[in-house]
Amino acid sequence: MAGQARDPQSILREAAAIASLAPSIHNTQPWQWLVHEHDTELYADRTRQLLATDPDGRSLTLSCGVALQHAQVALRAAGYLPDVVRLPDLEDEDLLARVTLGGATAPSAECVRDYQSMLIRHMDRRPFADRAPSEAALRELTAAADAGGAHLHLVRPEQVTTVTMAVGRAGEVEQSEPAYRRELHDWTHRDLDSGEGLPAGVLPEPAARRVPIRDFAPDRDAALPDEPALADRYARYAVLYGDRDDPAHWLRGGEALGAVLLGVVRLGLAVSPYSDPIEVLATRQLIAREVLSGLGAPYLVLRLGVASPEQPPRARTARRPVADTVVPVPRD
Ligand SMILES: Cc1cc2nc3c(=O)[nH]c(=O)nc-3n(C[C@H](O)[C@H](O)[C@H](O)COP(=O)(O)O)c2cc1C
Repeated sequence: MAGQARDPQSILREAAAIASLAPSIHNTQPWQWLVHEHDTELYADRTRQLLATDPDGRSLTLSCGVALQHAQVALRAAGYLPDVVRLPDLEDEDLLARVTLGGATAPSAECVRDYQSMLIRHMDRRPFADRAPSEAALRELTAAADAGGAHLHLVRPEQVTTVTMAVGRAGEVEQSEPAYRRELHDWTHRDLDSGEGLPAGVLPEPAARRVPIRDFAPDRDAALPDEPALADRYARYAVLYGDRDDPAHWLRGGEALGAVLLGVVRLGLAVSPYSDPIEVLATRQLIAREVLSGLGAPYLVLRLGVASPEQPPRARTARRPVADTVVPVPRD
């Protein structure tokens, strides 16, 4: 509680543990927190980088950025202002942030709600309902991205075809690479109790969509009926982007993504991301040029909509044991 003398290390440890609920590319959870007596350090865990899918580490850093944003929400909800220094050591690019406890603060209602949203947030790849999210809700999400340190461009109707083409082309390029296919197979065929990767229950069923979702099971027979109904007709698409395409901006992009995803919960919407069109240079450039009009560097595409009550329930992804990702450092 605010103002009470609690052990800073245990407060920081709890915040880092909650932050492990953050989303990550293929649920790799590529982070490690070292929790010291008065601060905690967020490290990128390069052993968990998807070297074929994400050779630049863009999605890895975005994922860590969401974890950083979640930790800050947890600290505010616990009654402390987080003090964050991003990339504090020029000699160590894997040290992404150092977080200390600032002054005590009474948690706002918004912050408590964001904390609760972290506990139930998830990606939803099921086809959306035939109802569009409101413009006011979408505006709230773009404001959340701006406040979080990046931007969200709402794809205009006439730009959706470009996104569809980019996703399709990225899929062709990636599926033709054996290393990519091996990585995909590896991260989608884990046991449920391994606490990482994508369990079968969250993978999308074959569907004819306006913008196809990454094919997570390319070896599966995905035959559709002759004239399938088009799914996601009312989905809206958005591009998360920033001013530069470098790790410092990806980290802020991840923090903005965290704010957007918690906003999605608050607004009663559903979301799933597409990083495949960003992973391939040609389609990343296409989106930067044709969708963002050259105004920024794209980090992730989002599919936003209203969850359909007609869809079967969605499975959940699990997380690694907290002891693997949150490491208390004993006092000297
Ligand atoms: C940077 C990033 C990239 C992602 N790329 C994709 C993607 O291309 N396709 C997809 O269906 N999900 C994608 N995801 C969603 C993750 O697979 C998902 O967050 C993870 O499996 C954990 O599940 P949860 O978010 O439901 O807790 C991405 C997530 C992040 C943070």
